[in-house]
Amino acid sequence: MKPKIFVTRPIPSAVLDHLAARCELQVHPEDAALKPGPLGEACREVEGLLAVGVRVNQEVLSQASKLRVVANCGVGYDNIDVAACTARRIVVTNTPGVLTDTTADLAFALLMAAARRVVECDRFVREGRWKRWEFGMLWGADVHHKTLGIYGFGRIGQAMARRGMGFGMRILYHSRRRAPEDLEREIGAKFVDRETLLRESDFLSLHVPMTPETHHAIGAREIGLMKPTAFLINTARGKVVDEEALVAALEAKKIAGAGLDVFEHEPHLHPKLAGLTNVVLIPHVASATGETRLKMAMLAAENLLAALDGQRPPNLVNPEACS
Ligand code: DGY
Repeated sequence: MKPKIFVTRPIPSAVLDHLAARCELQVHPEDAALKPGPLGEACREVEGLLAVGVRVNQEVLSQASKLRVVANCGVGYDNIDVAACTARRIVVTNTPGVLTDTTADLAFALLMAAARRVVECDRFVREGRWKRWEFGMLWGADVHHKTLGIYGFGRIGQAMARRGMGFGMRILYHSRRRAPEDLEREIGAKFVDRETLLRESDFLSLHVPMTPETHHAIGAREIGLMKPTAFLINTARGKVVDEEALVAALEAKKIAGAGLDVFEHEPHLHPKLAGLTNVVLIPHVASATGETRLKMAMLAAENLLAALDGQRPPNLVNPEACS
């Protein structure tokens, strides 16, 4: 008998076909997050859950007594209660690697947009405010040869550093673990302590995972250490930044600007953010390209199928659940 699985949103048909060949499939038809109650209800009989943009918590798990694997379609898995899954011997997987360059591309795009005021310039032209060319019009900040600070030097942080290299930037990074020397040399990245990173970066780009330790890792104190000309770029998770402190700093021009793909209470914006011109706001789309979303969904499917087959999935988050 084929195992029953539930897919929480419509995903590319190539992936659904691949899954349907080996599983009995149910797909939530709407591209919207199911709340834990209905999600748990949908998981009552299933052995596998392909989780796309949903919260998998105790409430869900308590209803899903047959569940063996939660395959998250995303590299970050702060939406999954991993400890609760492990306690129930439910395997959890994620999708690293396939979205690295796409996410770094967007982080760099945000950096460029914030520095060169691309969104403001676009609005200026569209709104008919461009009456004549002026020497002093819409000055931005240079990116090339500035200092790029990377906080979190995993795959995406490193890919961001490589993009900075192309712009002749000086690359500093801080991470829990220092990278091997040959990698530092290849990327031209220098490991520094957190305070130096904050003080010396012209552009500080966040690439840490969301954990209890990184919650509000960038708050008023940290922002206070940044240069008044610096920009903060966040494509990691909204809760890594104390949004209240960031808004206050942007309002008071304590830093020059920010580029944000992620927010503390997504999709709700801090009420003052939309009114600020020195911040570029985009809706958590760092990995959103057709090619990459297909790869993410396919990798999540491969992880799910491997776990259902009793094999160790390629991107296992909680090995303890298998032991
Ligand atoms: C990820 O992969 O973690 C992206 O943020 C999408 O959730």
